[in-house]
Amino acid sequence: QISKVVAREILDSRGNPTVEVDVLLDDGALGRAAVPSGASTGTREAVELRDGDPSRYLGKGVLRAVNAVNGEIASAVLGLEASAQSEVDNVLIALDGTANKSRLGANATLGVSLAVAKAAAAAAGEPLYRFLGGPEASLLPLPLFNIVNGGAHADNPLDFQEFMVAPVGAATLADAVRMGSEVFHTLRLSLKKAGHSTAVGDEGGFAPSMSTAGEVLSFVTQAIADAGYTPGKDIAIALDPAASEFYRDGAYHYVGEGLARSMPEHVDYLAGLVASYPIVSIEDGIAQDDLAGWKLITRTLGARVQLVGDDVFCTNVSLLREGIAAGIANSILVKVNQIGTLTEMLDTAQAARAAGYSVVMSHRSGETEDTTIADLAVATGCGLIKTGSLSRSDRTAKWNQLIRIEEELGSAARYAGASSLTSRP
Ligand code: PGA
Ligand code: ZN
Repeated sequence: QISKVVAREILDSRGNPTVEVDVLLDDGALGRAAVPSGASTGTREAVELRDGDPSRYLGKGVLRAVNAVNGEIASAVLGLEASAQSEVDNVLIALDGTANKSRLGANATLGVSLAVAKAAAAAAGEPLYRFLGGPEASLLPLPLFNIVNGGAHADNPLDFQEFMVAPVGAATLADAVRMGSEVFHTLRLSLKKAGHSTAVGDEGGFAPSMSTAGEVLSFVTQAIADAGYTPGKDIAIALDPAASEFYRDGAYHYVGEGLARSMPEHVDYLAGLVASYPIVSIEDGIAQDDLAGWKLITRTLGARVQLVGDDVFCTNVSLLREGIAAGIANSILVKVNQIGTLTEMLDTAQAARAAGYSVVMSHRSGETEDTTIADLAVATGCGLIKTGSLSRSDRTAKWNQLIRIEEELGSAARYAGASSLTSRP
């Protein structure tokens, strides 16, 4: 039974305030969870409540969400069974009473929801991945390592937000991490040699002052080869252009190149990149409001490439169902804070897989030392995860947790490799 709920304001990886929640049970078990925060957010995400008080944290304080947890929410969940996750989450949803968690804040509800799950796992004496996923939970996900940052995550001219490498040919998760790290460091040397900055962006990937995706992809493909791997076979490439960020008035505005591409030209350009580089996955290649664009890219590339919907679905089961009915994308990114409770995220993931869409577990660009999503990836058996680069503790914390889970599973552990991708290279 939940006996105490305490929230506080802590810092995320960008130095902005965020919510952390402790849930204590009457048997002494403790669950602690910290809430992440996005920069390139979808317009239909659940609401992250910020104080807007300019005298604190430049308006970004989260004391309203903290007070909601310590007051109203604590009163409503005290005495509930922590192991009854969906019951607790339904209380949170009903108490908030809005469609997008705008009254209490999704940062308030999510902190409680995840801390309750972790407290229940602690009380059961089980690791979170097994408590939620059962004894069969043994699939270690294919990592998508974000080694070059652009868009809203860096101050360079790159229009595309994320350039990722995926060790599809690794034998184990620990091997995949090693291969990713080797490519990361090999890329660092080649950038340095070419006179580029090796400073990193919000997710720990390099943020060189390049202006085209092609230039980055050439460097990344070469770094894969220079590290001793075969591009495509051992290590493939994934993109998140986060296209909602540079789409306006019906066109895609490439600031780095100083030109705009019409929707069909933009899809053509992406298809050209797929033809030239070993790209197996594209997330948000199309803007959230460009339904015609989503239909065209799915028709054009959907049979070959994993097309992941992030902003367009917002981890929201209704938006996902609309997308499935419209025949767009073949994969969904799930971010717990886009929807605000663990139960709703799990429902969305399940609906996606039932429709044959793959599921990518995801961090946000603003993270903390909290590693819950590593466990959630294994618990759901989704087989895919993106949680940033191979530097900065807010990112490596998740990779390290997956290494620990793989070790703990021992001979039961299986590494997903390319098996969970919806792409058919
Ligand atoms: P965000 O970026 O956390 O800044 O939204 C991640 C993503 O777009 O996938
Ligand atoms: Zn995205």
